[in-house]
Amino acid sequence: MSVVALVPAAGRGVRLGLGTPKALVPVKGESLLLRAVRGLLDSGCVQHVVVASPPDQVEVVAAELATLPNAHVVPGGAERTDSVRLALSAVAEVAPDARVVLVHDAARCFTPATMIRDVVSAVEAGAPAVIPVLPVTDTIKKVDESGTVVETVDRAPLRAVQTPQGFNIDVLRQAYAAAGDIATDDAGLVERVGGKVRTVDGHPDALKITTAFDLAVAEAVLATEES
Ligand code: CTP
Ligand code: MG
Repeated sequence: MSVVALVPAAGRGVRLGLGTPKALVPVKGESLLLRAVRGLLDSGCVQHVVVASPPDQVEVVAAELATLPNAHVVPGGAERTDSVRLALSAVAEVAPDARVVLVHDAARCFTPATMIRDVVSAVEAGAPAVIPVLPVTDTIKKVDESGTVVETVDRAPLRAVQTPQGFNIDVLRQAYAAAGDIATDDAGLVERVGGKVRTVDGHPDALKITTAFDLAVAEAVLATEES
């Protein structure tokens, strides 16, 4: 039974502001997407990857991943939820025996292999849904519409969520079948259908590249790893 990873990569990268889909932006000569997909396959526990590409860039994305025979490309959709849904519907053909599915943002291309393996292991051990999380380090306050603080939130039970998120494939299919609207978080859809979501430790290297500052941080991470 194989493990398949879905990589939503159809975003436009508006906040990065380079005028290119973010997944195709290079860091030291290699795109975020190539790094993310190779990272999944090299983790040793993912056999197939389905990438949701910007619909007008399918050929460019396929060429970018041509060296990776187990990477498959489908056109993505208008919202991330649409892109994941489209990639998920390709799994029946690409990896019909898959029982575990990961959903991983192309923008988290420096995720350590150990974290990917931890997520897969937890799903294989029976958890219906698994997310990597980090403690929240900033002080968190609730404010009203005028910007006045109404409460300081206890951050001890709060966690920031990363990807890859891992699922029993039947659970994710059921969650997407029930999901009508847009969600930024796949595990949130599982929660909505009553599924239990387990956590494993996240890692700072799995940061999501959203802004130019994040890209500079990623380059610094890479420089550290290469030295
Ligand atoms: N994504 C996608 N399909 C969309 C929108 C986003 O597959 N219609 C993907 C992105 O390519 C990215 C991940 O979802 O890998 C997380 O989205 P985000 O970080 O918001 O990336 P972008 O949408 O590209 O960035 P922005 O919101 O700044 O335009
Ligand atoms: Mg976006």
